[in-house]
Formats: sequence, structure tokens, C-alpha cells
Amino acid sequence: MAYLGKLRLGVNIDHVATVRNARGGAYPDPLRAAKIAEEAGADGITAHLREDRRHISDVDIDGLMEVLSVPLNFEMAATDEMQAIALRHKPHAVCIVPEKREERTTEGGLEVAREENKLAHFIAPLREAGCRVSIFIAADQRQIEAAARIGAQVIELHTGGYCDAHAEGRFDDRDRELDALREMSAYAHSLGLEVHAGHGLTYDTVKPIAEFPEVMELNIGHFIIGEAIFRGLAPSIAEMRRLMDEARA
Ligand code: PXP
Repeated sequence: MAYLGKLRLGVNIDHVATVRNARGGAYPDPLRAAKIAEEAGADGITAHLREDRRHISDVDIDGLMEVLSVPLNFEMAATDEMQAIALRHKPHAVCIVPEKREERTTEGGLEVAREENKLAHFIAPLREAGCRVSIFIAADQRQIEAAARIGAQVIELHTGGYCDAHAEGRFDDRDRELDALREMSAYAHSLGLEVHAGHGLTYDTVKPIAEFPEVMELNIGHFIIGEAIFRGLAPSIAEMRRLMDEARA
């Protein structure tokens, strides 16, 4: 199958805010990072406003809505509070993620199949407000079918298991995860869903995912922000962009 279009890179700036919050002040500023990311070729900015505000704050979201020229992908849990914030801002995209207070990062995909009715009602006003609704899920046929049934336009496939297996040298597991992601991205596309992917991606793991013809967007944060310490933010993003383009060449 031919590629469906340019593969977009969404840069997640949450961890610029993590560093800022370590000292409780205003530096480094995630908005400044977002503007540099735009100039370096990011096609969108992703930010996750967590319930506990451990990194991105409400004021960051206000600022991003004001200064960005590229679309904001607003990641949030399916709570009334977050829905109200999203409806106030009407970002380009809203990505619904599971959230547990005790977790270090978003550990698994959303359980859509068991919460179908609730989630269908939850996303309806977001769609009506003009947001593209994306659901962050595992490469699992049941979850994908449920995401299509509730009226999501987009799914984002969780690549964390694939990346962890690679990092830990469990290459058989990695290849199994990759096969599932490949198969499920084709399946989701066949149901009319736009397919995105993300979580844990690095220079070493991005290419096999970028090669999936149905994947339209990758959202990458922690690795890029970490790499920025060594080579600067713009060059870190440019290198990720280069690898994505190379995978699709
Ligand atoms: N996509 C989603 C839905 C996420 O929750 C996250 C993490 O906030 C990412 C992508 C980016 O993951 P990472 O920071 O590991 O690149």
C-alpha cells in the first residue's frame, strides 16, 4: 500500500514543564520550546494536562492556544474537568488517554470496549465543538472496533511495549509487538480511522513505525526533550524528522 500522506511529527513538550516544575519557577518555558519545535519542523505540539498538573499547567494550555501556529494536540483523561477545559479552548485535536495518579507515565491504552457508552457520550460534545477526537489504545482489535463505534476519528496506537522490549533487548517480544502494531494500524485504517502512534519512541525505534503506510502522525516527547540536553532542541527534532522521512523515502 502507498503512503497515505506526509507523516506528521507532533512534539510533546510535557517534560520541558517537568524540568521547570522541579524548581517551581518559570524556566524553562514550554511555550518557548513549542515555538522552537515549530521552527524546527514539528507539524504539531502535544501537551498532556494531567489531573495532578505534574508537568503542563492550565496557564501553559492558555499560552499554547495563543501562540501556536501549528495545531495543538491536547491530551487528557476522560473527566468532566478536562472536557470543560477542552470545550473552552477547542484545540485542533483532543487525545483521550487513561490516567492513574500513581503511574510515572501513561502506562497502557484506554479501555474503550468496556466503557463504550460512557466514552461515546463523553466525546460527542468534543466532536461537535470541532475537535478531532483521538483515542490512545493498545494494538488490540477489540479496542479499535470500539473506538470506531463510539465515533472517534483517530486512534493513537501505544508503542510503549514495543519500545520497552527493544530497550531491554527482548527482541522476540519487540518483533511480536511490531507485528501487532503493523496489523492493527492496517485494520484501523480499514475501519475508516486515522492512525497515529506514539509513546517511548527514540531514534532507534522510530523507523519501523514510520514505515507503516497507514500511520499519519507520530507523537514523541520524552526522548526528544532528553536528547535536547545533548544536542539542542531544534537539532534533536530535525534528526527525528530526518529519520521519519528516511523511513518513508
Ligand atoms: N502519545 C501519548 C498519547 C502519550 O500519552 C504520550 C506521553 O505523554 C506520548 C505520545 C509521548 O510519549 P513519549 O514522551 O514517551 O515520547
